[in-house]
Amino acid sequence: MKIAVLRESAAGERRVSATPETVKKFIGLGADVAVETGAGLSASIADEQYAAAGAVIADRSGVLKGAGIVLGVQGPDAASLTGAAKGAMVVAGLNPFGERARVDAYAAAGLEALAMEFMPRITRAQSMDILSSQSNLSGYKAVLDAASEYGRAFPMMMTAAGTVSAARVFIMGVGVAGLQAIATARRLGAQVSATDVRAATKEQIESLGAKAIFVESVKGIEGEGTGGYATEMSDEYKAAQAELVSAHIAKQDIVITTALIPGRPAPRLISDAQLASMKPGSVVIDLAVEQGGNVEGAVVGEIVERHGVKIVGHRNVPSRLAADASALFSRNLFNFLSAFWDKDAGGPVLDEEIGNAIRLTKDGKVVNERLLG
Ligand code: NAI
Repeated sequence: MKIAVLRESAAGERRVSATPETVKKFIGLGADVAVETGAGLSASIADEQYAAAGAVIADRSGVLKGAGIVLGVQGPDAASLTGAAKGAMVVAGLNPFGERARVDAYAAAGLEALAMEFMPRITRAQSMDILSSQSNLSGYKAVLDAASEYGRAFPMMMTAAGTVSAARVFIMGVGVAGLQAIATARRLGAQVSATDVRAATKEQIESLGAKAIFVESVKGIEGEGTGGYATEMSDEYKAAQAELVSAHIAKQDIVITTALIPGRPAPRLISDAQLASMKPGSVVIDLAVEQGGNVEGAVVGEIVERHGVKIVGHRNVPSRLAADASALFSRNLFNFLSAFWDKDAGGPVLDEEIGNAIRLTKDGKVVNERLLG
């Protein structure tokens, strides 16, 4: 089985879908690996390092020629995959809802497209979950981005010239990114509080030494929520949440929002009026900006100022830590493919539970029920 590792073509994408470590492991399974020239450069991996791990380095048509598996971080256009074997697997983050036309093109080209972001949240698939591995780094980077935009220090400092008070940081949405943001802000010495709609996160917030700020008057989502995911909340809940946030947010220096609802636009958590109540110089980081944004006025790919508050809307935050993000993403892909590697078949043979969840196209058709439904 030949595995092709593509150089990413999306604007601003610095990550790569294989590292020398995973190349070596794929070769250990009996695969041949071809890496497109310069694929790892923006993640600080030179072609020579891939070659030393046993990969062949070639141009796009050379790596694709006869490849049965094509790896990417983001989905490549179907038209750019000419030369791959008939029915080749395309394994990447394929953004199935956002890039529906591309999915149809995979089907038309007879490719088997596997969307890694559709990996089910089951224990055995944790090590294959690109959403978790990348969100964790986003949560960390969001705090560093906030610290660098903020004109003050994070920790309390007692100096001969007087005391600098600790920054107050509020994290909204305590999934994988939010938990890492809490831990990182605490490490930097901030006073941290956090909120979520899922009841299970309360204990997690407190166990990281942060203060849990929760709507008490209306019931949120019990426990973890289905698959760890939130749903759209009732109008009554939203009103209670807005009141709670209004009271809390005016006292915060930094707010980091991470709230997402699968298959829907991100919930609006901060209004322009709430921004106006914050102190000038405060910083708001909207990690959900590419999914519609949690913060009114946030702009994808920009830092804008409203009422003296900076609203940061960086695109593709994991790519801002390209080397580590690539290392974890690549391991997710290897963990997935190797778990199903069948020596006799000379490649992966997926089971139903995971195969049906992530397979978008096969034999010329779109087959995923989330896209058909
Ligand atoms: P996510 O990225 O879908 O959402 C981020 C957070 O925003 C969630 O905690 C969600 O409850 C929260 N949120 C949504 N609407 C909100 C609102 N209106 N107000 C405040 N907060 C809101 O979630 P993520 O980070 O992908 O994962 C959530 C949980 O899933 C994790 O904490 C973990 O327990 C579980 N998980 C399980 C995995 C597995 O078993 N393989 C893998 C990854 C996560």
